[in-house]
Amino acid sequence: MSPDDPMDRRSGFSPTCRVEADLQPVDLSRTAVPMMSAHEHDQLRQQVRDAYGAVARAESSSCCAPSTGCCAPSGQAIAELLSRGIGYSAEETAAVPQGANLGLGCGNPQAIAALRPGETVLDLGSGAGFDAFLAARQVGDGGRVIGVDMTSDMVSKARANAVKGGYANVDFRLGEIEHLPVANATVDVIISNCVINLSPDKVQVFRDAFRVLKAGGRLAISDIVTTAPLPEDMQKEVALYTACVAGAASVAELTAMLAEAGFADIRIKPKDASREYISQWAPGRGVEDYIASATIEAVKPAN
Ligand SMILES: C[S@@+](CC[C@H](N)C(=O)[O-])C[C@H]1O[C@@H](n2cnc3c(N)ncnc32)[C@H](O)[C@@H]1O
Repeated sequence: MSPDDPMDRRSGFSPTCRVEADLQPVDLSRTAVPMMSAHEHDQLRQQVRDAYGAVARAESSSCCAPSTGCCAPSGQAIAELLSRGIGYSAEETAAVPQGANLGLGCGNPQAIAALRPGETVLDLGSGAGFDAFLAARQVGDGGRVIGVDMTSDMVSKARANAVKGGYANVDFRLGEIEHLPVANATVDVIISNCVINLSPDKVQVFRDAFRVLKAGGRLAISDIVTTAPLPEDMQKEVALYTACVAGAASVAELTAMLAEAGFADIRIKPKDASREYISQWAPGRGVEDYIASATIEAVKPAN
């Protein structure tokens, strides 16, 4: 890593809050958002894009495996097994087009989203479309789903999957979740699966999510949170960043960011059961001692 690599800037940052810690107000300038320039944000996003572009170009992959440089091909069957382990039913994994489920998630946002027919859903970091296609079934022909992803090979793959599966109510857009290609106040529900941890500017992600939601709209997210401060060497490791480990923020930090963006009714629940599968993301490294999968829910207040 070069001295001006954006990951180096993380070395001066030390996360502070354990999950069980009291949720006191957090100074966002001193938390999981290292002070980086826009150019440094871009460099970090490019590393993430490179990693997931490689996943998209592989036939089928299991991600969050930094020992393999993030994401060695591993087969549809493994992706299905991984998904069953994080909360999807066999019926759900069978319902989407082949190649849509790349085994990249860390939970099942559908389980908390309570989607209703006719709703407009936005999937942040939609990958090859797995959650977007499941959401499309729930909202029906009268609803619609927009998937946004910054990796062009992922967006192409998702669009091809939509054609394969005959999904007329799903639309995949190339873009960053920090700068969503979505109009103000047009979305009922935002879902996301294991993506926001990858953003170098989570404060901006939540601000833009707030912008595009209708009043009364809600967030239903599965993501990674820290449960203890990550050791500095792990914080600086690019492979652990792209593998959804090193970019995670704590519950207190995420709560502060959501509140700052304007969200109410914020509920973030880490899942102890995630320890086992997270240990497989970097075998032997003990990352499960520092991070967990969590559900993140919040509401944009009605006017
Ligand atoms: C771990 S994968 C999860 C994909 C999908 N949600 C799933 O569960 O299959 C992360 C995805 O988020 C995308 N991504 C990461 N950071 C992003 C950002 N800042 N803006 C838009 N997309 C991003 C990546 O390109 C990748 O497709």
